[in-house]
Amino acid sequence: MRSEISLTFWLLVTLLPWSPFIAVTAQIPPTPSLGEVDASLACRFLQQNLSHRIVTLPGHPQYTNATHSAWNVFNTEFMPACIVFPRDASHVQAAMKTIYEHRVRYAVQAGGHSAMKGWNSVQNGILIMFTFMNNMSYDPKRDTITVLPGVRWGDAADGLERFGVAPVGGRVSGVGTGLLLGDGRLVTATVNNEYRDLFKALKGGANRFGVVTRYEVTAIHTGRRQDKWWFGGMISYSDSATEGFLRATANFVRENRDSNAAMLTSVANIVSPETQNVTSLPFTFLFYDGGKDTVYSAEKTERLFNASFSQFLSLPRLSSSLTPLSYIDVAHMLDEGPAQLGQGQLFGASAFASDDPIQRYLEAVQFQRRITEQFKDILNTTLVAFTPVLDEQIYAGRKRGGNAFDPPLGGYNAVQYQVSVNPGATSRELALLNNARRQWFRNFPPTPGLPLYINECDKEQEVFKTYGQYEFLKRIYAKYDPTSFNVKFSDGPSGL
Ligand SMILES: *[C@@H]1O[C@H](CO)[C@@H](O)[C@H](O)[C@H]1NC(C)=O
Ligand SMILES: *[C@@H]1O[C@H](CO)[C@@H](O)[C@H](O)[C@H]1NC(C)=O
Ligand SMILES: *[C@@H]1O[C@H](CO)[C@@H](O)[C@H](O)[C@H]1NC(C)=O
Ligand SMILES: *[C@@H]1O[C@H](CO)[C@@H](O)[C@H](O)[C@H]1NC(C)=O
Ligand SMILES: *[C@@H]1O[C@H](CO)[C@@H](O)[C@H](O)[C@H]1NC(C)=O
Ligand SMILES: *[C@@H]1O[C@H](CO)[C@@H](O)[C@H](O)[C@H]1NC(C)=O
Repeated sequence: MRSEISLTFWLLVTLLPWSPFIAVTAQIPPTPSLGEVDASLACRFLQQNLSHRIVTLPGHPQYTNATHSAWNVFNTEFMPACIVFPRDASHVQAAMKTIYEHRVRYAVQAGGHSAMKGWNSVQNGILIMFTFMNNMSYDPKRDTITVLPGVRWGDAADGLERFGVAPVGGRVSGVGTGLLLGDGRLVTATVNNEYRDLFKALKGGANRFGVVTRYEVTAIHTGRRQDKWWFGGMISYSDSATEGFLRATANFVRENRDSNAAMLTSVANIVSPETQNVTSLPFTFLFYDGGKDTVYSAEKTERLFNASFSQFLSLPRLSSSLTPLSYIDVAHMLDEGPAQLGQGQLFGASAFASDDPIQRYLEAVQFQRRITEQFKDILNTTLVAFTPVLDEQIYAGRKRGGNAFDPPLGGYNAVQYQVSVNPGATSRELALLNNARRQWFRNFPPTPGLPLYINECDKEQEVFKTYGQYEFLKRIYAKYDPTSFNVKFSDGPSGL
């Protein structure tokens, strides 16, 4: 499992510990020519200040590697004037100062898992990449984990396994994140210090609010590799089970009261490279955390698993891999294989309330299937994924200082709509595909009052407007970035 660790790490921690699809989306027009200041002068200046090792120009092997290895192929189209590879926060600070003074466009990339074209790269501007700020540590006295923004989720799980801890769950108190604002000030925001408003805004506002250079989060004692405290795995079904599968997905968010049960369900449409036939594949990851506090009993955990997921287990299965698991097994279950690389990624989001009719789930999935059939010449795979957000998670977020999403109680499914485009699609084909995706956004909007998940949105969806704390977010943005520098000089979600 990999993720955007930077600010989006928060979102992951707060809401979606298992989502493999942790990024933001958009198919957007070319970067607006805001003054179009040539950034190469600023780059040369910065190179003198920080050295050629840290500030790389086109042609440098590290620059080339970085621009060619984007997770999302659409993000390889950008040619920054230079790429800054900071080794510590002072380098980020110097880069931001230069960006601010020279008024050049910029972008920041941490894990690089964004589907939002242009949010983590920039044409002719300055790109800050956290590739080399990727270490982490565990402090047993404070029982906290500190990670730098270049760390990827799976690497964090691996690196901390020997301590039996992981940075997971919404249980983040007293968190310190160093972050850097438009004017280059380095501050530490926590749940209760003078920057607590910023701390809250970051959880949802993402890097519109600053560049996070360090996270300190409460350690969760997840056990070591041999501690098989969990039970679960993946189950797939045939297309004919789709309706029952979606009913089980909708019911789970309404009926489940056991926060040790976690799941992610999806309906994939896979285009055969040979015949171009489209196959629908409902599949789900189901887990039960048996915990370490009681004397561990695999049998008991499996029984609780069975009780939590009885509706999924009663449907006829295509394949199933249920077994006792350690946390590290769970963390790697959603690893992307090489098959998921090398494609153009587009995301979109919705949110379905717990009492939304099953018909809405079915129609959303059927619409996606029709889009896949219509554009199968250029598509590789499409996916509709449902991630339950339970009251327990919402309470946990509120207890830790709240966040900008601020969903209402009652439970809901965060819906993600992903299309993976094969390389070589023409711009005309992409434009037609985007029209179809817009129709999907119009037909299946979030149930009124529910927030969209920023890391799964398309830019056109105006994600901030769906937040419970939208007015707060705008106020805090105006306080910390009074000249709107970030909105004017970097791409990303609008509405602030
Ligand atoms: C680099 O820039 C920073 C901030 O502008 C300044 O404090 C520092 O002295 C500069 N260093 C060099 C080597 O020019
Ligand atoms: C090349 O890029 C990848 C992906 O960002 C990174 O993991 C790797 O360390 C880079 N290699 C070099 C030599 O910079
Ligand atoms: C990462 O490494 C640097 C340099 O060794 C060190 O100063 C910093 O404290 C480390 N950070 C973490 C989170 O381990
Ligand atoms: C989808 O991507 C995989 C991995 O790159 C590739 O093997 C497959 O041929 C692609 N599918 C189509 C329909 O091109
Ligand atoms: C692909 O679809 C066509 C037309 O629907 C059908 O005739 C054919 O049997 C399918 N091929 C496979 C391999 O399923
Ligand atoms: C859980 O359910 C499966 C059938 O899905 C059954 O084979 C297994 O024995 C059950 N496990 C326990 C511990 O009840």
